[in-house]
Parts: sequence; C-alpha cells; structure tokens
Amino acid sequence: MPAILSEWLNILLRWTHLIAAIMWVGDSFLFMWMDSHLEEPSRPRDGDVSGELWMVHSGGFYELVKRRTLAPGELPKTLHWFKWQSYTTWLSGVALLAVVYWFGGHAWLLDNAVSSLTVAQAVALSAGSLVAGWLVYDAIWMSPLAKKPAAAGLLSFALLVAAIVGFTHAFSARAAFLQTGAFLATIMAANVWRRIVPAQTQMLAATRVGQRADAALGARAKQRSTHNHYMTFPVVFCMLSNHFPSMYGHAQPALVLTLFVIFGAAFKYWMNFRGRTPLLVQGAGALALLALAGLTASPAKRPGTTPASAAAAANVGPVEWESAKGILERRCWTCHSAHPTNPSFPEPPAGVRLDDPERVAALTERIRVRAVETKTMPLGNLTGITEEERDTLGAWIAQGARITKAR
Ligand code: HEC
Repeated sequence: MPAILSEWLNILLRWTHLIAAIMWVGDSFLFMWMDSHLEEPSRPRDGDVSGELWMVHSGGFYELVKRRTLAPGELPKTLHWFKWQSYTTWLSGVALLAVVYWFGGHAWLLDNAVSSLTVAQAVALSAGSLVAGWLVYDAIWMSPLAKKPAAAGLLSFALLVAAIVGFTHAFSARAAFLQTGAFLATIMAANVWRRIVPAQTQMLAATRVGQRADAALGARAKQRSTHNHYMTFPVVFCMLSNHFPSMYGHAQPALVLTLFVIFGAAFKYWMNFRGRTPLLVQGAGALALLALAGLTASPAKRPGTTPASAAAAANVGPVEWESAKGILERRCWTCHSAHPTNPSFPEPPAGVRLDDPERVAALTERIRVRAVETKTMPLGNLTGITEEERDTLGAWIAQGARITKAR
C-alpha cells in the first residue's frame, strides 16, 4: 500500500476509533455511575421504579427515574439505545489493526528474536484468536459455571493470562500488547452484540405484548455489561501502550501486561465503590502497581541479551563518535533521516532524524532507551542490528555521548 494512502487510512480510522471509544466507554462509566448513585424516590413515582437521581449539567437540571420494567402502555415513542458506539469502536479498531499491523507486515507485527512466524501465519493467529477468545469466554459464562462467578472469573482470568503469554511468544512485544487490547475489546463488543442488545430486544418485545420479560436474560446482560466495564481500564492501557517502550520492551512483557490488567480492573473497582472496596481487591491492585513499578525500574532486559549499558561500557572500551555514527547510519538512517529510504516512511518516523549530529545529541537518552535498554528499535529489527552494536552504542552514550567534529 502506498505510504500516503496508509497514512490517510490510519488518520481517519484512528480518529473514528478514538471518538467512538470515548462515547462507548464514557457511556459505560456514566450508566455505571448513575446506577450506583440512585436514591429512594423523593416523592411518589409511577411504575416499577428502582430509584431516582438529580443532576445539574449543561445549564439545567436533570431529573432521572430508573424503572426496571414498563407496562405495555408506558412505552415511549422514542427510546434511545446505545449500541452503535460499541460496534463503531470495534469495526474501526479491527480496520486499524489491519492497516497498521496486518498490512504493515513484518516490521510492526513480528520480531525475529521472539518467533519465526511468517506474516501470513501471524495475521491468521491475530485474527483467529479474536474469534476464539470470544467463543471460549462466552462458553464459560453460558455454562453452569457462570452461577459461581468467582470460579468462572478465575478461569477466565487464567485463560487471559495464557493468551497474553501466547501473544508475547508469537508477536513483537509491541504488537502483543495491542493484540491483548483487541482481544479483550472483541469480547466487549461481542457482549453488546450477542448478549446485551438481544436481552434488551427481548425485554422490549415482551413489554409490547404485556408479558414479563425473561429475568435471566436481563441478569446476564447486566453481568456482561459489568464485565465490559472492568475491561475498559486494561483495554485503554493496551491501546496506549505502544507509546511506552519501557513497558512493552521489558524482559517480561507478559508479566508487565498481566499486572496492568489486575491494577486497571482493581482501580476501576475502587473508583466505583471507594470505601466499600474489599480488602482483597485493594490489596491486589496496590500490589500489582508496586510490582510494576519495581519491575520497570530494574534494568532487566529482553532474554538472550547482554548487560545493561553501564556494564557494556566497561566491557567495550572507549568508543569514538565515528563508530557510533556508523551504527546509526547502517541501522537507523533507512527510517530516521531527512529522506528515509524505507518506502513505508515518506517522513522520518516520530520526527526523529539521526543523520544530524545535533539531533543525535539531543536524543541520546531516547536512543539508549530504545536501541540499548528496551531493544524496541530498530523497528522489528528490520536493519539487523547486532548485540555488539547495541553494546557499542550503549557504551558510547555511557561514556558521555561525545560528538567529535563532523566529517
Ligand atoms: C524500519 C524503520 C525504523 C528503523 C530502522 C529505526 N526506527 Fe526508530 N522509529 C521507527 C518508528 C516507526 C518510530 C515511531 C514509533 C515508535 O516510537 O515506536 C520510531 C521512533 C523512534 C524514536 C522516538 C520515540 C521515542 O521513544 O523517543 C527513537 C529515539 C528511535 N526511533 C530510535 C531509533 C534508533 C536509535 C534506531 C537505530 C538503532 C532506529 N530508531 C531505527 C522506525 C524505525
């Protein structure tokens, strides 16, 4: 695909995706919040009322009454549904996943140090696992086990961790984080499509003919919508994670991601219930955050690699600017120069140019983080940088990153 076309697709899809997701997640939070703030009716209200709520916003007062059911004659002419925000989020998200990771090919999706999958195999695995994840999750929560939410929840969580471990052994760590986000978000959208909306349709149909709605369907819809709610924080982290190489570039990417899932869900729980949060949830969330802080602070590196830059500096001996520059030229300039030769990048990615010593001097810390510490650059190691070269770069930076006069 021509680079400019893929960039435009990327912009339009990302924009749509973000806006739809803001609407979907925003409404999920708002409805959850409204439910948890309902009060006893302050005066007699008609119908099967479960509570009322007063709000001030947008230059007026909102008086909200929640009813569990409606009598046939009470159906309003217009009833608002909230389903397209979730469908739009999912559709634009999958399209974006395809444009960036599936058609972006080897550079984004794979890492030779992680697996030897071909692009076609990786795309099949990425797409197939989205479908499989939903089928397995739904089967668990449709089975008799669903009556024991703690057991079903533990099993679902264990399978999620297994999926995360699988992803980090198949895809580049960066893609594995995003794949996990897409995996959870697919379950969320399918919950809306296959379980929540049908329950509401059934409730409405029953109301129209004056029958009682099937309470089991309503209860399941509420359960799925609660699952969705607690998946939002982990999913949003996954979606933003590609800005944080110290997270996905960590030696234990699956552990980092799992801890974030625990912390995200626990934090959301605490936001909903504050003082009423069980100690177990508070403890799990706090421990996960502490463990994350500790893990990412330690200089652990990707498996099979050499020591951190300080140690490398001692091993390598003095490094001249000319050798550092040679490495940048061989391994980075195809993308990070005024006129990249890599056809995917008409402009240097992230605006980073490494063919200009002044820019290199300004960016040494980021070069260390990306190329020496987390090894997330060169992208997908397309240019085949060696461990020795990483050490040499690290040593040059540790020795003060001196730039002697340009040739
Ligand atoms: C195949 C293309 C490609 C090659 C080769 C490449 N990069 Fe990058 N680089 C990218 C892309 C794409 C981004 C933006 C996405 C990102 O940050 O992951 C980027 C972003 C960066 C950033 C800015 C983001 C940040 O975290 O500060 C730095 C610094 C960087 N690269 C350093 C390097 C170094 C050093 C090399 C060579 C050892 C290198 N890159 C080789 C594609 C490449």
